[in-house]
Amino acid sequence: MCDLGNHHDRGGFGFLIDTQEIRALIAETRRLTTEMPDTAARVEALKPAFATLLAADGWLPAPCSRPDDKSRMGGGIGQYALYRAEDGSLCLFSLVVPVGASTPVHDHLAWGLVGVYQGRQDETVYRRLDDGRDPARAELEIAKQQTLGRGDFYALLPPTDDIHYVKTISDTASISIHLLANDTACVWRHKFEPHTGRVTPFRSGYANAPCPPDEPARA
Ligand SMILES: [Fe+2]
Repeated sequence: MCDLGNHHDRGGFGFLIDTQEIRALIAETRRLTTEMPDTAARVEALKPAFATLLAADGWLPAPCSRPDDKSRMGGGIGQYALYRAEDGSLCLFSLVVPVGASTPVHDHLAWGLVGVYQGRQDETVYRRLDDGRDPARAELEIAKQQTLGRGDFYALLPPTDDIHYVKTISDTASISIHLLANDTACVWRHKFEPHTGRVTPFRSGYANAPCPPDEPARA
């Protein structure tokens, strides 16, 4: 389930939450990944299956729907693995952001779809103005802001729109569902401080599954 420690025997891979709804989305993602080499077209074709998951009730267990007081992202934000491909090519997870809390500004480094399952979120997306040559600095400006409620979702197609943060604006915690073409919480990605330009490598980690042994951070 969503408690850390139950999946150490398999390294926390596969269907950590095994429901028909999740299996249907992963199967459709696998099918389209095989059949459609163009990433943008594939993400577009995946939208109906992703919308079906967001619209369905009852498939996300309560332990994957609550804040995490040991959060490595801070603010009580819980990140729960629902499915993880063993080769690191795909994952599905829930992200629980408590009332009034915000994620750090971060990137994802993989294509995918992200949508709101409960509550409401404000999303702020940044555009990078520098050439990315300095791994410790980034010059960012706000590219767009949007509010999302149940069933609203967006695509990630790095490098476009890959740097953002979200804030819960509902009076209950928000839950978003993330389908991404990497093992998002276990890859080294980046936190950004737009006001100072500082970039920090980070690995957010899942609350309910271990990451492979630490590798040196790549900035
Ligand atoms: Fe994100």
